[in-house]
Amino acid sequence: MLKARIAVLVSGGGTNLQALIDAQKSGVLASGEIVFVVANVKDAYALERAAKAGIEGMTVLRKECGGQEAFEDKLIELFEERSIDLIVLAGFLSILTEKFTSHYANRIINIHPALIPSFCGKGMYGLHVHEAALSYGVKVTGATVHYVNEIPDGGKIIMQKAVNVEDGDTPEVLQRRVMEQAEWIILPASTEKVCAELVRAE
Ligand code: GAR
Repeated sequence: MLKARIAVLVSGGGTNLQALIDAQKSGVLASGEIVFVVANVKDAYALERAAKAGIEGMTVLRKECGGQEAFEDKLIELFEERSIDLIVLAGFLSILTEKFTSHYANRIINIHPALIPSFCGKGMYGLHVHEAALSYGVKVTGATVHYVNEIPDGGKIIMQKAVNVEDGDTPEVLQRRVMEQAEWIILPASTEKVCAELVRAE
């Protein structure tokens, strides 16, 4: 393959998706091409970002599929139809089962807004992560990109970047700093790294 074909899974605003789209435009992401974006919630703004960039987008709701297994089977069907090589979870706030993660072993990566193994695992997503970091009182947090396996936030780490916590931070302020200083940098960089490896391996 010349470029890995990437599907991005999202649940919300999609600033990490935007970072990937921008990286594709600037050439930071050169070994892969984002060809498909799937949201698992209604009216996710991320799908508007995909549409603006001319990327196919779709909403797939677990409820409408009839459950988690049917939802994941639908994803597999959609990805196979599009010959997807790599799945990027970019603010995808739902846990995938082992059946799905083992189907795509070493082909799914995720961005987590903390330095794993801190503030991760079930229930640790979005603002909750930053609330937990502030209430613990850590002075340094950050973000991690890792492979996805059956253990929530438990797969092999690809990249991490540290970010300072400042006096007076609110969860929202800290979330924004972690995004700007870490997530939007290491997600595109990790995606490029993994895509380059996939292209080389073929
Ligand atoms: C990001 O901070 C991402 O790291 C986090 O959700 C946010 C989504 O923002 N993901 C998780 O917490 C996964 N456990 P976005 O929709 O603007 O990219």
